[in-house]
Amino acid sequence: MAAQPERTVHDPVSVSSPVARRLPSSFFWKRLFSLLGIMPIGVYVVLHLYNNSHSLQGQASYDAYLASSHDIPYYPILAWVFVYLPMLTHATYGLVIIKRGRMNNLHYPWFRNLKYMLQRLTGIGLLLFIPAHVYKTKWEPQLKGEVLNYHHMVEGLHEPLTLGVYLLGVTGVAFHLANGIWDFCYTWGITVGPKAQRSMEILSILAFLAFWSLGLNAIRGFFL
Ligand code: HEM
Repeated sequence: MAAQPERTVHDPVSVSSPVARRLPSSFFWKRLFSLLGIMPIGVYVVLHLYNNSHSLQGQASYDAYLASSHDIPYYPILAWVFVYLPMLTHATYGLVIIKRGRMNNLHYPWFRNLKYMLQRLTGIGLLLFIPAHVYKTKWEPQLKGEVLNYHHMVEGLHEPLTLGVYLLGVTGVAFHLANGIWDFCYTWGITVGPKAQRSMEILSILAFLAFWSLGLNAIRGFFL
């Protein structure tokens, strides 16, 4: 029997692979999964980190941001349509890819294979971080009958465990999104040749540094 061709590192469900044949309409789902990661999820995350940078301008500015962010007509519907449902869809298909994929970074310790493994690890990390974060910022204040404001965030982030989780969360999201942009360009045929893929690698490293700085600075704002 002829040996199966080796699956490429960045194409865990390439249409010719045996994995892809088991996934329903994987061509459609892979592209939808990739698109959702950038739009609306990636756009939401960058805006969210930027908006939370109001912390750098102090209590009045941060509380004004929180008040204005709640003062949007149909807010819960918009949050479900543009944030929670896309995240759930992206995470579900991401788990399918992880379950059916193969970690080959131990056999091929290249930079791209390291990214392949980190993309999966940060995806799982974010599945833990996001519910914990939504609990801390939305459910906990309601359960305790408190108002979510700058003071609540300062108190929370001065707990060492919460601070550690947030530092890991913003590092994980910065990597996952920046490397996700690389994956998106590959999946959608935007970066076809090796030269374009290498250039995109440099751009995604710069994107990582930008997203990471944005997140770390937003946290720093609660310690000024
Ligand atoms: C610097 C770090 C961060 C800070 C200070 C922060 C702060 C907040 C605050 C205060 C809220 C409640 C907002 C509101 O009720 O209007 C919130 C909600 C939320 N955050 Fe973050 N966040 C951070 C990072 C992240 C990251 C990295 C993600 C995702 C990967 C994320 C995803 C969410 C989601 C999904 C919600 C709920 C949105 C909603 O239901 O309105 N956050 N965050």
